[in-house]
Amino acid sequence: MERPTRTWSCPRFFPQGSSRIHTPGMTILALTLTLAGAIAPPATAAPLDSAQATAQVTTQIRTQITAQVATQTASQVTTQTTSQRQSSTLSTIPTTSPPSGSTPSSTLNGAPKALAPRLFLGSPASDATIQALDIDILPDGRGLPPGDGTVNEGLQVYNDQCVSCHGEGGQNGAQPPLAGGLGLTPAQLTLDPTLPKTIGNYWAYATTVFDYIRRAMPLNRPGSLSNDEVYAVTAYLLYLNQLISSDQTINAQSLPAVVMPAQQYYRSAYPMEAASP
Ligand code: HEC
Repeated sequence: MERPTRTWSCPRFFPQGSSRIHTPGMTILALTLTLAGAIAPPATAAPLDSAQATAQVTTQIRTQITAQVATQTASQVTTQTTSQRQSSTLSTIPTTSPPSGSTPSSTLNGAPKALAPRLFLGSPASDATIQALDIDILPDGRGLPPGDGTVNEGLQVYNDQCVSCHGEGGQNGAQPPLAGGLGLTPAQLTLDPTLPKTIGNYWAYATTVFDYIRRAMPLNRPGSLSNDEVYAVTAYLLYLNQLISSDQTINAQSLPAVVMPAQQYYRSAYPMEAASP
């Protein structure tokens, strides 16, 4: 549930912990700039080492920014004087300091973070965009939305949307079993890979069932279920694994209270007692 930091470029290409420009990341950056008409394509295809490549791109970008700043219209920069803008732009290009006013992000390495805003590429993610992606649920239930569902409602959802792949009652389908194998221990499951790993013998938290189904299932239409439907089908799967009774309703309060048999085998990175919703 930690709110994602606003980012200016894809963290995939600027992996966490990277302290200098990464070659794949730089390729993407150079490509982006090229497509935007910002810089000419590199003249040579000779491989560069990271330091050489960094220097080359920095020089290109410096040149480009100098020209860009010089031609900027007054209406685009009403909040800064020309001298402020030039000094703040040009003096920080090769450094790793974040642009003023932005939140430092550990997911980006220094150079793109400092450069992206100054190249006027992209735009900050809106609150609505962030909220739409901010759907993770912690083991203790933090992040669960309003809504609820019963085992019976879940049976309906399951038979409409899941049974074709996962089989009647969560077993014997073409895709992974969702129930059964109750009581099997991790040692048994490891020794015999043909034994079914299921929600009932392998999953540490009931809340993960909700999170996983909401973001990933049904496989052919992930994200299509309402929160009530996800609660309901979660209830049905917990029922199939004999973790709740058939008359139980599952919601943001009751779901985290379901203790999973496999929880004892996991060491939590999220101490439950530290939870404060
Ligand atoms: C088109 C086939 C398909 C449909 C329909 C489908 N699933 Fe799945 N499901 C899969 C596949 C394939 C996997 C394994 C995905 C993986 O391991 O990455 C999976 C995995 C799962 C898992 C994780 C199982 C585990 O223990 O690892 C759950 C839970 C699940 N599906 C629930 C559902 C629910 C609930 C529905 C209906 C709302 C549904 N699925 C519909 C194909 C499907």
